[in-house]
Amino acid sequence: MVIFPSIFLSLYIFAGQRGLQGNYGQDAPFILVGSMAMAFFFLLLLIPLTLSLSIPKTLKAVLSLMWLIIGMWVFMLSVSLAFGSWDGKFDVIADMTDDLEDEGFFLSPNSLSILDVGCGSGLFSLTLLKRMQSRGTEGKVWCIDVWREKDQFGNTDDNIFRNAEIEGVDPSKLHVLTGDVRDMPPEWTNKFDLVVQSLALHNVEEGEFTKEAKEERVKAINEIVRVTKPEGRILMWDICPGDPKWTGGCAIKEFYEQMEKLQEQRQPLLEEVELDGPIFVFSPSYIVRGRKKDVD
Ligand SMILES: C[S@@+](CC[C@H](N)C(=O)[O-])C[C@H]1O[C@@H](n2cnc3c(N)ncnc32)[C@H](O)[C@@H]1O
Repeated sequence: MVIFPSIFLSLYIFAGQRGLQGNYGQDAPFILVGSMAMAFFFLLLLIPLTLSLSIPKTLKAVLSLMWLIIGMWVFMLSVSLAFGSWDGKFDVIADMTDDLEDEGFFLSPNSLSILDVGCGSGLFSLTLLKRMQSRGTEGKVWCIDVWREKDQFGNTDDNIFRNAEIEGVDPSKLHVLTGDVRDMPPEWTNKFDLVVQSLALHNVEEGEFTKEAKEERVKAINEIVRVTKPEGRILMWDICPGDPKWTGGCAIKEFYEQMEKLQEQRQPLLEEVELDGPIFVFSPSYIVRGRKKDVD
């Protein structure tokens, strides 16, 4: 009996992973479990409420509707987290890689140096390396992460090598470093042809929507610009959960604003800065692109 659903689920996950076979982990696992439990709790509350004889009918109807809406809303949040991790993010990252290919990035005659900040289990790094391998492009990917379990389930620096083996990627093309994006090695100044980031920078600091956290994210952007080579590209995808007026913050739009500032100053550091989206994976999310100016 269980064999058909299992085959279906495996096919679904395989197709959803755009040909990748590794385990790239559940993002925000505690929020997923918490929202599932909350949804279950609200829907469960409906039973005593509807059975109760002492509550007037109209009040019962209003309360039931309220519980149902809250329960369904929280349930949808958990579904979007699961869907994003097991399907949606593979599509977004594959599409971003296709865009790079269309721009001729993989035709570079020089060996490419790429940095994936907050790389987690290596989804972006390995997608890029697989593409480079299949196009015969020379180059390496550096990954930097603090491996926080709260941000991705079972987050350790081993996962990326395990996934590299599963994907058939040469591990000598990977350099994995434990470190903070706000304080990257000084010798990385002007090093990378491309710096990518997926779903990581909103996690840079605890208390995502406080003023201090915003300042920390600006530090991260400035570091990313520092390590990018003149003429090198920056490519970032992150979430924007709701209107900043209500939620108090939208990390990816802050990156965009900071990158625009760097583009508009008297001696601009960046050019071709643009914001793309919304993309409805996880919550509304956006892609920000930019290129570091070649200062003569
Ligand atoms: C939601 S996960 C996304 C991982 C991966 N980029 C992906 O798309 O699957 C966020 C990652 O950012 C990392 N991270 C959070 N704060 C960081 C920081 N200050 N410096 C480096 N990495 C950080 C976490 O450890 C985690 O691996």
